[in-house]
Amino acid sequence: KKRIGILTSGGDCAGLNAVIRAVVHHAIGTYNWEVIGIREATHGLMTRPPQIMEFKIDKLDNLLLMGGTILGTTNKGDPFAFPMLDGSLRDRSQEIIDGYNSLGLDALIGIGGDGSLAILRRLAQQGGINLIGIPKTIDNDVGATEVSIGFDTATNIATEALDRLHFTAASHNRVMILEVMGRDAGHIALAAGIAGGADIILLPEIPYKIDKVCEKIRQRQEIGKHFCLVMVSEAVRTDVGDQLKEIKQFGEDRLGGIGKYIAEQIAEETGAETRVTVLGHIQRGGIPSPVDRLLGSAFGVAAVDLIAQEKFDQMVAWQNRQIISVPIAEAIKTYRTVDPEETLVKTARGLGICLGD
Ligand code: F6P
Repeated sequence: KKRIGILTSGGDCAGLNAVIRAVVHHAIGTYNWEVIGIREATHGLMTRPPQIMEFKIDKLDNLLLMGGTILGTTNKGDPFAFPMLDGSLRDRSQEIIDGYNSLGLDALIGIGGDGSLAILRRLAQQGGINLIGIPKTIDNDVGATEVSIGFDTATNIATEALDRLHFTAASHNRVMILEVMGRDAGHIALAAGIAGGADIILLPEIPYKIDKVCEKIRQRQEIGKHFCLVMVSEAVRTDVGDQLKEIKQFGEDRLGGIGKYIAEQIAEETGAETRVTVLGHIQRGGIPSPVDRLLGSAFGVAAVDLIAQEKFDQMVAWQNRQIISVPIAEAIKTYRTVDPEETLVKTARGLGICLGD
C-alpha cells in the first residue's frame, strides 16, 4: 500500500483543488493508497513537524468548484537560496528533503509552473524523491503541454472584463485599455483579446509601435467608431526603431502600470479620452471554468496512474487532445511564449485586429 504526498507550489490559480480532488479519489478509491497533503508548498516540509493534512475520500465536498488551493502555496523563496531574516541567502534544500523523508512517502505529486517544477525536480534529484509534475499557471507558458491548469479560467475572466468594458467604452466614446497578466507570455491577452472583440492586442512577443496603435484608433474614428478596446499584456515591449525598449519596469512592482503608460501615449498622440483597467489577481481567483475542472481531473488521475506504473520524473501534459507524460526536464527546458506565426496570431490579423506591428 503506497503513501503519496501532494503539494501546490508558486502562484495559485483556478483548478488546483480539482486536481487535488482527482488525486485523492483515484489514489484512495482505485488503489487504496494514503494521500498526504503538504501545506504551503516546500515550506510545509521545512517546518518541524512538517505541515500536513491527511485526505479522506468522503471529505472532498465542494473541492471541484473552489478557487485557490486548500493546501496553500507560497512564494517565500528558492529553497536553494532561501532569503533569511538577516538578509542572507541559505541553502535549505536538505531540510525539505529531511521533512519529506520523515513522512515515509513513496512518491510526491507537485503541481506548479516552470519555476516550481524546476525547483522540485532539483530537490527530487538531490533527495531521491519519486516526483510527478502537474503543470499549472494562468500564463500558460509551461513547455511541452498545450495547456496548463488555470489558463482557461483566467482567459474567461479577461474576456468577460472586455465584454463589460465594451459597452461603457461605446457609451463614452473612449479608448479603454485592459491590462492583463501573463508574465513574459501573451497567451491570455491574445486569446481573451480575440474572444472579447478587442480592436488592438499588444503582446510581449510582438513589440508594438505606438504609431500603428494610433493609426488603428484613427481608422476607427474615420468610420464613425469613436471607441476602441485595447488589450495589453503586462510585459509588452515597444519598438522604437533602432532598439526594443523594455517597458517592463512600469509593471515590475506588480502594481500594474504598463496600461497607464500606453494610455498616456495614446491620449497624447490622438487626443482620445482613455481609461485603464488593471485586471490583476482577479484573473487568478474565482470558480474554475468547466475546462479547468476537466483538465484538473484528467491531470490528477493521470498523475496517480504514473505513480502506479512507477514512471517518475515525468510531467503530465496535454498534447493533441490527449493526456501524455513527458520528462519534467523537457517541460522546463522551454518557456512557451506566443509564436508570432501561430494560428491565433493569424486569426487576430485576419480579423483586422491591430497587433501594434
Ligand atoms: O505567474 C502567474 C502570475 O499571475 C503572473 O501572470 C503575474 O505576473 C505574477 O504571477 C504575479 O505574481 P504575484 O502573485 O506574486 O503578484
